[in-house]
Amino acid sequence: MDEHVIRTYVRRPEVFVSGEGCVVRDADGHEWLDFLGGIAVSALGHGHAGLVDALRDQAGRLLHVSNLYRHPYTEDVAGRIARLSGMEAVFFTNSGAEATECALKLARKAQRMRGHPERTGFVALEGGFHGRTMGALSVTSGAKYREPFAPLVPGVTFVNRGDLDGLAAALRAEPAALILEPIQGEGGIFDHGADYLRAARDLCAETGTLLIHDEVQCGSGRTGKFLCGAWSGIVPDIATLAKPIAAGLPMGACIVAEGLEGTLVPGDHGSTFAGGPLVLRAAQVVLEALEGGLLDEVTARGEQFRAGLEGLHARHGLVQEVRGRGLMLGLRTERGPDVQKALFDRGLITNCTAGDVVRFLPPYIVTAAEIDRALEILDQTLGAL
Ligand SMILES: Cc1ncc(COP(=O)(O)O)c(C=O)c1O
Repeated sequence: MDEHVIRTYVRRPEVFVSGEGCVVRDADGHEWLDFLGGIAVSALGHGHAGLVDALRDQAGRLLHVSNLYRHPYTEDVAGRIARLSGMEAVFFTNSGAEATECALKLARKAQRMRGHPERTGFVALEGGFHGRTMGALSVTSGAKYREPFAPLVPGVTFVNRGDLDGLAAALRAEPAALILEPIQGEGGIFDHGADYLRAARDLCAETGTLLIHDEVQCGSGRTGKFLCGAWSGIVPDIATLAKPIAAGLPMGACIVAEGLEGTLVPGDHGSTFAGGPLVLRAAQVVLEALEGGLLDEVTARGEQFRAGLEGLHARHGLVQEVRGRGLMLGLRTERGPDVQKALFDRGLITNCTAGDVVRFLPPYIVTAAEIDRALEILDQTLGAL
């Protein structure tokens, strides 16, 4: 019974007890194909043998030493993230929201060090989601997330998606940073497109504004490149990661480009748990897989899935649009919540975001056969509705 649980989530009655690859099972032995992956988290699926072995081994060796002491994985994982992202240095966090907090603090400190302590504001985009702590919520646009908790951090300007004139005007007011998701996740798998992202990069450079790419949902290889912004040839000043980076353990990261690595100094920021041996051991397994060819698999499976979704779009009037890239895809349909519920009843886990987008964030290890099966369930469900 859940009477002692604060009801911030509406949970389904099924109790999930185990999983294998892209399949999860409930206590009664029913199985589902998991195309949500714990909301973009379970990059290696469920029960991944290499991950389980590494975690078992690490649990028996060392769980926690704090950030006051070295352990074998801090430098290794930071180095891998730097190489994969083309950026310079990493601060580890426990979540996406904490990665956002770090990014915002870092941007203000960097402006201060550049002789602009007055540049404290932030520009963010409508539809953007950056987390639920006070700072992260302040740059998250949705009224339903914000209003009950006002007042939030002052000095945030929101600009409509696609409105480059509005963005230019907001940046000319000299904020500390612009924060955006290259592909908005909660905002409905909305891809701003390379032209918009490059224009935003140029406007930031022109106005001395730091560019923060929130890659918590679209990053860590989800779209087939380690950072989604790389599809547009962009290296942001600051990027954030979380969700899949440790394949299910709570971990995030705030990464900075060359030149910003000295911004935060001892005492400026910290975390008791972040970057501990267990989560970083998990991250090491994920990063090794990405370095070892998993990114190509994500691209191939993403293309297969997207082509199948385009086929459904052509056949079913219920589908208005296919969105996204790699294994971050969405179907826009006015009946999003009905579709999502009917898919669940037929054994496919997805979710509905932004009111009308059925969202797919399957594990990176999804097979071609599992994608075919998901498309079959979608076809039947859309047909039945
Ligand atoms: C783009 C983005 N940023 C930040 C967050 C916040 O991450 P967390 O829930 O780990 O705090 C999320 C979570 O959905 C997200 O999608």
